Amino acid sequence: MINSGGNNLWFVRSPLSLGGVQVTSQMTIVKTTLNQLILISPVKIDESLKSEIEALGQVAWIVAPNNFHHLFISSAKQAFPEAKIVCPEGLPKKIKTLEEHSIIDVNDGNVWGADLEALRLYNGGLGDEHVFFHGPSQTLILTDLFMWFDEKTNFATKIFTALMGVNSETPKMSRMMKWIYRDKAVLRESFRKILDWDFNRVLLAHSRNIELDAKPQIREAMSFLIPVDNKAASENQQKTG
Ligand SMILES: [Fe+2]
Repeated sequence: MINSGGNNLWFVRSPLSLGGVQVTSQMTIVKTTLNQLILISPVKIDESLKSEIEALGQVAWIVAPNNFHHLFISSAKQAFPEAKIVCPEGLPKKIKTLEEHSIIDVNDGNVWGADLEALRLYNGGLGDEHVFFHGPSQTLILTDLFMWFDEKTNFATKIFTALMGVNSETPKMSRMMKWIYRDKAVLRESFRKILDWDFNRVLLAHSRNIELDAKPQIREAMSFLIPVDNKAASENQQKTG
């Protein structure tokens, strides 16, 4: 079922079990200023979901936002054969059978239009996460960057999320992502660019979304690299300076 985020943004949550770990997965749909639909991190698309998406418009782009979220790219391509796949440069090396594709260009306005911005954190090798900001809905779209799993779930999920350091009441960067993105100076610069975006809602591909007043929670999740007080002081300085 498609949920509306307003202002030409939608999301679809779908149960996903990986080896008994229940992570849930989420696809974001954006209708761009080019009147095209972009599917970011597709979930499995059955006939019912396909019909719902078709009612929104024409799917032009299928986006794999990092090297991990490719499980349902083929499902999306089968549902929308005219759509083009864009993915990180590492994905075709990982998935030899990946259909025709191009590599994500965060500056390609023909893909993102005027309302959607893309940012590559940096190529961390295994991950290569790209994040997005949709201006009209003030929505930050993340994939694996942050997670929080404090809801009731099964034993395998509790163990996995505890090991990853994301069984918390606030969003966190998992231990695995911190290892992948271990160049802290480069990551810090990406964090600063994300904080420059004027977002209020955050969509997280796993766990839960943050529907309101999301920025302080994301700032807190980044505080291991950008101390919250320093960031606030820096912003105040910019405002007064
Ligand atoms: Fe993921």
